[in-house]
Amino acid sequence: MAGSTLPDFSPSAPIAYESSAADRVQESAEQFITLFHAENNLGSPDHRIRQVRREIEFSGSYWHTPAELAFGARVAWRNSSRCIGRLYWHSLRVRDCREISAAADIAAEAVTHLRSATNGGRIRPQITVFAPDAPDQPGPRIISSQLIRYAGYELVGGGVVGDPSNVAVTRLARELGWPGGRPPGRFDILPLLVQEAGAPVTMHEIPADAILEVGIEHPDYRWFANLGLRWYAVPVISDMYLEIGGVRYPAAPFNGWYMGTEIGSRDFGDAGRYDELREIASHMGLSTATDRTLWKDKALTELNLAVLHSFDAAGVAITDHHTESARFLQHLEREERHGRGCPVDWSWIVPPTASSATPVFHRTYTDFDQTPNFYRHPAPAPASLATPASLAAPAEPSLRELAQPVDELAAVCPHQGGEHVPHLRMIEEQGGVERQLSQLDS
Ligand code: ARG
Repeated sequence: MAGSTLPDFSPSAPIAYESSAADRVQESAEQFITLFHAENNLGSPDHRIRQVRREIEFSGSYWHTPAELAFGARVAWRNSSRCIGRLYWHSLRVRDCREISAAADIAAEAVTHLRSATNGGRIRPQITVFAPDAPDQPGPRIISSQLIRYAGYELVGGGVVGDPSNVAVTRLARELGWPGGRPPGRFDILPLLVQEAGAPVTMHEIPADAILEVGIEHPDYRWFANLGLRWYAVPVISDMYLEIGGVRYPAAPFNGWYMGTEIGSRDFGDAGRYDELREIASHMGLSTATDRTLWKDKALTELNLAVLHSFDAAGVAITDHHTESARFLQHLEREERHGRGCPVDWSWIVPPTASSATPVFHRTYTDFDQTPNFYRHPAPAPASLATPASLAAPAEPSLRELAQPVDELAAVCPHQGGEHVPHLRMIEEQGGVERQLSQLDS
């Protein structure tokens, strides 16, 4: 792993020099190949390590075999310390699109990803891996934080119509010529923003029939449906890079399925997002005069119930925070049985609602950074986002905002900060998963 500690200049120690980029790739590669061979009972990794070393000497990087890529992507999920849904890390479907780097082709594959991940509601955890960064040729990037996002339109006098998380990216899309909803709506799907290395950002509409959405209604409150809330079925994180054995895949969108609180508590409940609690409380006839009536708590509970109920009624996979917490503890046990440490970030793992009623709350964990993993891209350089339109436009999008366009993980993240933003959660899938798991255990 690339060390960030200072060299030891004490008199007795040999002077340590910063190793070259190729050396760092080499070191990470060896570590990864060794892990790959060990966990898959492939015998000695020496032959493959020699091969990889030659390739790195020659080109500065190396090409993963399809099996290494699939394993690497799955372990990246397993190492994501902020993800509560890791029990099914082994079930991740890996789409190898490493030959693809043109923006239009990326957009087309992203749509294919959406369709197969959505799978009519029987959501499949999946990742699509596009071209890697090479020493002489950076790979492409997806600027959108998820493949599907709702626009956030700033109002002249302040305030936002739609999702406030997506204001910056909405502004950028408009500068690129996206007309926006007419009139602007609260749930207008944004086009996908893609950037080929060294090229301007381009924009790509996602066909409506590739997007499954669920209208939110409540099992008992008839008025709830009139709030007009809806959410998309599949969260596909698209602005993180995948790091495997010293190779960086800058565009590698991945998805699991939702845990209800991500939508109910955070996307709809957060004051900085759709901020629905007061409206719901008043429909419930609760006094909002003082916080001590716990109107927020009651509204949150009904909102979460409505989300779970609506997804269930629509036949779209979603998990709840109680089930998922129990599964996570199962995951920890299983990892321990395999003799592996499992990095966990308490502040992300503990659900935002009914926290202390879940077992994950009542214990401590250790967190550490381990590759393969997913990482948040550093802020894009201003020039790299420049487009003819945005250069001409006086109101350039705030790059600082764009760097953190949305905390798409906000739903499980009471505390943000730090670069390391793994995510993904899962629920039980078709029998195949359980089969895989029992194999894992054996
Ligand atoms: N919290 C994000 C959202 O509300 C999604 C993050 C990924 N979640 C997941 N279940 N894989 O859109």
